[in-house]
Amino acid sequence: MKVTYLLVHVLSVSSLKGGVGKTTVSLGLASAAFAKGVRTLVVDLDPQSDVSTGMDIALAGRLNVADVLASPKEKTVRQAIAPSGWTKSHAGTIDVLIGSPSAINFDGPHPSIRDIWKLEEALAHVEDDYDLVLIDCAPSLNALTRTAWAASDRVVVVTEPGLFSVAAADRALRAIEEIRRGLSPRLQPLGIVVNRVRSQSMEHQFRIKELRDMFGPLVLSPQLPERTSLQQAQGAAKPLHIWPGDSAQEMAANFDQLLDRVLRTGRVGEYADTASATR
Ligand SMILES: Nc1ncnc2c1ncn2[C@@H]1O[C@H](COP(=O)(O)OP(=O)(O)O)[C@@H](O)[C@H]1O
Ligand SMILES: [Mg+2]
Repeated sequence: MKVTYLLVHVLSVSSLKGGVGKTTVSLGLASAAFAKGVRTLVVDLDPQSDVSTGMDIALAGRLNVADVLASPKEKTVRQAIAPSGWTKSHAGTIDVLIGSPSAINFDGPHPSIRDIWKLEEALAHVEDDYDLVLIDCAPSLNALTRTAWAASDRVVVVTEPGLFSVAAADRALRAIEEIRRGLSPRLQPLGIVVNRVRSQSMEHQFRIKELRDMFGPLVLSPQLPERTSLQQAQGAAKPLHIWPGDSAQEMAANFDQLLDRVLRTGRVGEYADTASATR
């Protein structure tokens, strides 16, 4: 069945620090998109390359994102893209632009305008092959994040419900606004994903209220609870949506809702709804 949908073409998953759940959100959204039959490319822009690992990529004979940033030609881009091993579980288009520790060489604090547009230039060669592009960003505001944002329609900011989360989210939103005004009018924040929430924790509930008071509807629902099933699926390099157990299914449903929000705010597109076709 063909379904007409609103699609955000390119979404950056960002935060100013590491370890808050960018890769977890990228993998969760990718898994939701794969389950729904949305043709998806995940760009691994973090030098730690965790999203490439979590999506079970065979690296042999491939180029990677550092080669692409050095030379964003179509041939290079296509050689740096590999299908995810997730397609062993069911058919679909879920590819990865492979990450590399060498990407760190492209993360200087003062990128030129040409450097900033490199990823946009690279993605322009392949974007018609996909309905959705997710970029797992590096944890800084340096060149890699700027090139990601310049290539994006929307950014989600990931944060944990902690002492500094309001300040960190505020800094990220201001930086997005700066890029929108100076460089890329199409860029907008999709919102803030609050991750690793413990519902019993008074401290967490207080921090979430603080975020809501400050950012209102930019604080996205649902917030993501802390669940070991996420780590298990990631460790096995499997999509969350096929991981057994209630906890994995609860998280999969959370990512389905977040993906719907992503798709609702984008451009018009069409994809084959393989999920409902196989139901
Ligand atoms: N909601 C969650 N529940 C349980 N573990 C989580 C959750 N979010 C992230 N983690 C774990 O925390 C670690 C850091 O998360 P990760 O997504 O890699 O952060 P980042 O990409 O921002 O550095 C990983 O081991 C991940 O599995
Ligand atoms: Mg990461």
